[in-house]
Amino acid sequence: MSLSISLSTSSVLESQRECVIVAAFEDGTLSPSAQLIDQASQGQLSSLLQSGRVSGKSGSSLLLPFLTGCKTPVLLVGAGKPGEITAAKFIKLAQDVSKEMNSRSFTSADSYLAEVAVKERSVAWAVRQLAEQSPSALYSYDATKSKKADAPKFSDLGIGVTAADVPAVTEAVKQGSGVAQGVALAKELANLPGNVCTPIYLAEQAIALGEANDLLTTEVLDEEQMRELGMHCLLSVGAGSDEPSKLIVMNYQGGEKDTKPYVFVGKGITFDTGGISLKPGAGMDEMKFDMGGAASVFGLMQTLCAMKLPINVVGVVASAENMPSGGATKPGDVVTTMSGQTVEILNTDAEGRLVLCDALTYISRFNPETVIDIATLTGACIIALGHHTSGLLANDDELADQLFSAGQSSYDRCWRLPLYDEYQEQLDSNFADIPNIGGRPAGTITAACFLSRFTKEYRWAHLDIAGTAWNSAGKAKGSTGRCVPLLAQYLFDRLA
Ligand code: BES
Ligand code: MN
Ligand code: ZN
Repeated sequence: MSLSISLSTSSVLESQRECVIVAAFEDGTLSPSAQLIDQASQGQLSSLLQSGRVSGKSGSSLLLPFLTGCKTPVLLVGAGKPGEITAAKFIKLAQDVSKEMNSRSFTSADSYLAEVAVKERSVAWAVRQLAEQSPSALYSYDATKSKKADAPKFSDLGIGVTAADVPAVTEAVKQGSGVAQGVALAKELANLPGNVCTPIYLAEQAIALGEANDLLTTEVLDEEQMRELGMHCLLSVGAGSDEPSKLIVMNYQGGEKDTKPYVFVGKGITFDTGGISLKPGAGMDEMKFDMGGAASVFGLMQTLCAMKLPINVVGVVASAENMPSGGATKPGDVVTTMSGQTVEILNTDAEGRLVLCDALTYISRFNPETVIDIATLTGACIIALGHHTSGLLANDDELADQLFSAGQSSYDRCWRLPLYDEYQEQLDSNFADIPNIGGRPAGTITAACFLSRFTKEYRWAHLDIAGTAWNSAGKAKGSTGRCVPLLAQYLFDRLA
């Protein structure tokens, strides 16, 4: 059972749920609902603050099971210094509180944390984040463990708002819980190991998604169909694998029949060994996450289906397994793309662009409004931007600006890198139209330059999520579900 989210306009003293959540601040003040509790309990919260028992520091919390004048237990959480509560701090707060509710075995709660003023953000933004982060924080992976985790007990969250705020925040609840469902699917698919999550498995998931949702139809192209279309570049990546490659097309028609679709193309390498240009062994297991772009396309489709958004969207996943074998593509091999351009494959580990380029040619048949591809494309992007920010490159300034701002508002941020013509000069081959690598300098940019040779007919942006799609170390190791929030926000903004 997942966490259901709704708005609650009842006063904190009249809550029908098992627990209420209110905030204290580091300057000794209380949130409006905390003040109501303080009055009803003859100043018990104030005296806790005065005694220092409650600090208001972010990360702190105190459960008060019995308070005079309160029907329910109260979780008093520290929100930090007023005026210094950033978006990041608020998101962390929302996640921590949800985990605490669950670990304390509450099944329901009313949270009045949307009263916390977040720097440069509206009440609707806070509601959206509570609705998104509270379920997301409860995600845990157990698909390939013999012991299944208990389903989260915490299953019903009310977000307390004033009646006057309801019109402004109703959409935010829908968006937050819709995005959370997409993020959950993206995480689950990406976390699955490479021997489970193969191109065939992804194709089956897409078919299942289509069967479960009236607005979505799925088509899967097999290798023979791709060969007929001339997708020899995509096919060259799976040539060394026993797993057949798939081109998965999910068509979501929530809008008018003849309005142009937004098209999303995900890199779906279900395992990237590097091929004959074999990767080093250390950490290679993480290359099961090399379908993170595909996972975010799946997540976005899930969000659209859950919200039944009135928009047309085509989600395409170019899926293959990159393996070395006697049949594998070799450095120096030349292949012909669906566009007719030939590619010299100088490094079989630069395979993402090889599957994407044919998918990007294929999708022109949809007469797209815009095209956005999402890929764990380059290690160089991690060097440039680290693990907090996705790379953004585009052939259209307006589209780039829209994605940048969708990243800012959803807090799934990206930063633009240039696609200046000069970089294209790094892509010259003596033996084909284009080599698949452009040398050490600006590896993220030259990868995008390669893709740009196939995207001339439409407005296009590329998101490099190599650094943001998963966490590498420790307990948090696993998929992040990025960039579902960013992509969903981009579409929400188009409908607004
Ligand atoms: N999937 C990798 C990129 C990657 C590496 C993502 C590490 C996340 C973490 C991609 O297919 C790849 O191997 N890229 C090469 C390109 C190079 C050969 C031009 C890279 O980044 O080293
Ligand atoms: Mn690679
Ligand atoms: Zn790869």
